[in-house]
Amino acid sequence: MVSPFFCITLITAFSSALASGNIQLWPDEPDYGVPVATIPLLSNVAFLNSFNSPQGVTYNPPNVDFNRVSLELLVNTTSSNYDRLGMAFFNGIEIWRTSTSEPANDNAHWDYSKDVSEYLSLFKQTGHFEFLINNIVNEQFQGTFQVSITANFYKSSNKPNTDDSWAIALDNPATNIQTFRKNPTNLYWTAPSDDIEISVPQQASNVNRALIQVFASGNSNDEFWWNTHGGSGPSRFVNAYINGQPAGYAAPFPIIYTGGINAELWKPLVGIRAYDVPSYFMDVTAFLPKLWSGASTLKLNISNGIDNNPVPSNWIVNVNLFTWSTPGQTNSGTMDNPQDTVNTLDNSLGTSPQHVLLTRSYSSSATLTIGGTTQKVGWNQNATFENHLTINGDDTSIFQKFTGTDSVIGSNGVSRTFNYPLTVEIGPTKNHVQESYSIQSPVSLYTWIDTNVNLDGNGKVTDTQSSQYLEEASVSHFKKAVNGQIVETW
Ligand SMILES: *[C@@H]1O[C@H](CO)[C@@H](O)[C@H](O)[C@H]1NC(C)=O
Ligand SMILES: *[C@@H]1O[C@H](CO)[C@@H](O)[C@H](O)[C@H]1NC(C)=O
Ligand SMILES: *[C@@H]1O[C@H](CO)[C@@H](O)[C@H](O)[C@H]1NC(C)=O
Repeated sequence: MVSPFFCITLITAFSSALASGNIQLWPDEPDYGVPVATIPLLSNVAFLNSFNSPQGVTYNPPNVDFNRVSLELLVNTTSSNYDRLGMAFFNGIEIWRTSTSEPANDNAHWDYSKDVSEYLSLFKQTGHFEFLINNIVNEQFQGTFQVSITANFYKSSNKPNTDDSWAIALDNPATNIQTFRKNPTNLYWTAPSDDIEISVPQQASNVNRALIQVFASGNSNDEFWWNTHGGSGPSRFVNAYINGQPAGYAAPFPIIYTGGINAELWKPLVGIRAYDVPSYFMDVTAFLPKLWSGASTLKLNISNGIDNNPVPSNWIVNVNLFTWSTPGQTNSGTMDNPQDTVNTLDNSLGTSPQHVLLTRSYSSSATLTIGGTTQKVGWNQNATFENHLTINGDDTSIFQKFTGTDSVIGSNGVSRTFNYPLTVEIGPTKNHVQESYSIQSPVSLYTWIDTNVNLDGNGKVTDTQSSQYLEEASVSHFKKAVNGQIVETW
């Protein structure tokens, strides 16, 4: 794939003298008051040649009552290296995907608190916690990552603001969380080279709700999927199928890692979600009649919504199944045929300007009798993807919008809308990125970042500027930060 910029730009030779601490973007730090217990998990563990080699520790739950958990990650770097992908696992279940800052001999350090309360049932039992940074050290790039992770436990009635808290009633956490592996030694699938086809074991008839959680991020040749001119185009969907029937899709957020486009864009502010790569939920409760009746095949793939050609390599994928059950229930029901429609409204792949406009809508439904009550359950999604890509000499500009709604149908029906606008202007004198992340679920959150690197035409940085805006409409809270310093709050 020809791209006007390289996947991960490494600026070591002329690292600027900016502050090296990065400030985090939404989600805000968990706000549950003082922890009732704190357990150190990893302490100053170095990740050198650590590709696919997680560092683990046995976890024992604290001897106190708790209902919220967060993980605090602290990282120090030495020397220069690429930005690297990281993951945290509990009993082999991916619970957090992260990435690193791109250290350039500047002693970069950061900390991030990740709310993992949705995995409460895991943290209630003894288990195995692991953390991975896929790092490679060689003569040229010697940067290592020194990692400490602490688990903080709380007793709180405050509602979490995680990606998934709208769909998971946190005061009623999943009874069971399972994950699946390509084989016992692989920590994730790499699509499209791996066919992701999973045999999901038969679920007990007292299971009354099921969700699949997907971690899927475009890396390597598809890190900048939204910048694809021609070929597979700039649109991506993560698709799920159960026994050959569509089970929903995820609209991936366009993550820009800390080396993306130009590493100087991401010092000190990192791109939205670079330290907390989103996971995506699909409610598959409507499929319970199939899941109760025997083993099912869950398939995942990544498509562009335009044609059926594979997208570039690679997408790093993990999938977890969350189920809720009530002892003593025997549930039953019938499922309707799910509907999945993608409309290509415009597609001028390979021209300039290139314009792609797609809409997608999905629905599943079933009539289930749960604990003696008959109800309609289901999952509705719709999304609109639009991308304008213009190449003008050495300058490329991209204006993209990905918006949509996901709704759980049922007695506790909830929904959320999302909106991921992205503007990128890349050229020999200036790189400019404006990205936003907005979701409206029970709470409404809006974050955007606007960052610029001015170049002298030989690629040398003359000036950088960045601003971050964070709005939480529910609590009228707005912050503006420039180069990592909060300059205005409302
Ligand atoms: C980072 O470096 C500081 C200062 O050298 C040290 O106190 C701290 O323990 C280090 N933390 C990690 C996670 O490596
Ligand atoms: C994804 O899987 C579905 C269902 O098997 C199939 O129809 C579709 O062609 C696949 N798409 C890609 C891009 O692999
Ligand atoms: C998407 O679904 C929501 C909720 O059902 C609806 O309000 C909205 O109009 C739909 N949008 C499109 C483009 O279909």
